[in-house]
Amino acid sequence: MINKNNIKIPLDKFISKTLYDKDKGFYMKKFPFGKDGDFITSPEISVLFSEMISIWLISFWENLNKPKKLNIIELGAGSGEMMLQIIKTLKNFSEINLSTNFFILEKSPLLIKNQKRKIKDQKVKWIKKLSNIPKCPTIFLANEFFDAFPIKQYIKKNGNWHERYVSLNKNKYEIYNQKVSINDVKKNFEEKIIKQNFIEVSPLAMKLVDKISKIIFKQNGGLLMIDYGFTNGIMNDTLQSVAKHKKTSFLINPYNSDTTHLINFKLFKNRFSKNKLSSLITKQGSFLIKLGILRRAELITQNLKFSKKADIFYRVKRLIDERHMGSLFKVLFTRKIKNNFDLGFK
Ligand SMILES: C[S@@+](CC[C@H](N)C(=O)[O-])C[C@H]1O[C@@H](n2cnc3c(N)ncnc32)[C@H](O)[C@@H]1O
Repeated sequence: MINKNNIKIPLDKFISKTLYDKDKGFYMKKFPFGKDGDFITSPEISVLFSEMISIWLISFWENLNKPKKLNIIELGAGSGEMMLQIIKTLKNFSEINLSTNFFILEKSPLLIKNQKRKIKDQKVKWIKKLSNIPKCPTIFLANEFFDAFPIKQYIKKNGNWHERYVSLNKNKYEIYNQKVSINDVKKNFEEKIIKQNFIEVSPLAMKLVDKISKIIFKQNGGLLMIDYGFTNGIMNDTLQSVAKHKKTSFLINPYNSDTTHLINFKLFKNRFSKNKLSSLITKQGSFLIKLGILRRAELITQNLKFSKKADIFYRVKRLIDERHMGSLFKVLFTRKIKNNFDLGFK
C-alpha cells in the first residue's frame, strides 16, 4: 500500500486496498453492517425486502419451467441476512426448495465466518469462483454488491486524457491526474468515447458481468441486481464514502470508511446486451410495490399493537419512498433475450 510519500497508484488499486487489503481492508477487519456499524442495507431494514425477493425467485423459477436443478447465488452476502430469509421463505415451497442449490460468493473471510454463524443451514455452500457451480439454470442476486467494486476514473483536460491516481503527499492522500493515451482508456472502457470528458468504470465489475453473462447464456437463468445508481448513462464523479453512518471523504480515513460509487445502470445494460442478454430496469420502490410489499405489510400487522405496526410500515416506507431509497435504488433484471419474465418491472 502507499505508505511512503510521493508514491502514486491508480484509483481502483487504491480503493481495492482500502476495502479488501487482507489485514487493514474495511471489509476484512470488522463487521460494518447495522445500527452499530457504518451503514445499513435493505435486508437489514426490513425482512419484507428479502420476502419480496423470494416471491420473485419462485415466480422466475416457475417461468423457467420449474427446473429440477437450480442454482441461487448471492454475490457479496454481507451480514447474510438476505440469504437467511430467502432460505426460510423457500422452505415453505418444497418443490423449489428441493430443487435449489444455494451459494454465496463472498470475498471477505471475516464476513464468511459471520455468514456461516448466521446461516447454519447445510444447504448453503460458499464459493470462491463461479466456475465451481453445477451446470444448471442459475439465478444471481446482487444487492449493493457492484457499488463496492473498485473503479477507475479518466478525465479529459485540454484535449488529453488523464487517469486518476492517488498519491501520498506530506502524509495526506491526494488525487493526482496521470496523463494516459486514448488506447489505455479504451482498454478498460469498451463503450464509444464520444463527446465525453469524464469516464467512471469498474473493469473488475465488467469482467464479472462477462462471466455471469456466459453462465446465463449457456445454462439459462438470470441476474437480479439492486443498487443505488442512475440510468441516463451520463458520467460523473460518483465516488462517496461513509463511516459510522456519516458522509466522509475516501481520502481522509480510507481504511475505516466504506468507499462506494453509484452504479451506471446503462453501462451494465449495454454490457449485458453486448453479451446477447436483455435487461429490464426499474426503481426499487416500484419493484417492491408490484411484488406486493404493502399488501404483505397489511397482512402481517393485522393483529399487532399500533407501535409494532407503525415500526413495520416505517421500515417499508424507507424502502419504497420516492424521495429516498424507493427511487435512488434501481433494480436491473437480465436474462436471455427470448425470456418474457417481467414480474416487478411492467
Ligand atoms: C455493501 S456490502 C453488501 C452486502 C449485502 N449484499 C447487503 O445488501 O447487505 C458488499 C458485499 O460484497 C462483498 N464483495 C465485494 N467485492 C466482492 C467480490 N469481488 N467477490 C465477492 N464478494 C465481494 C463484500 O465483502 C460485502 O459482503
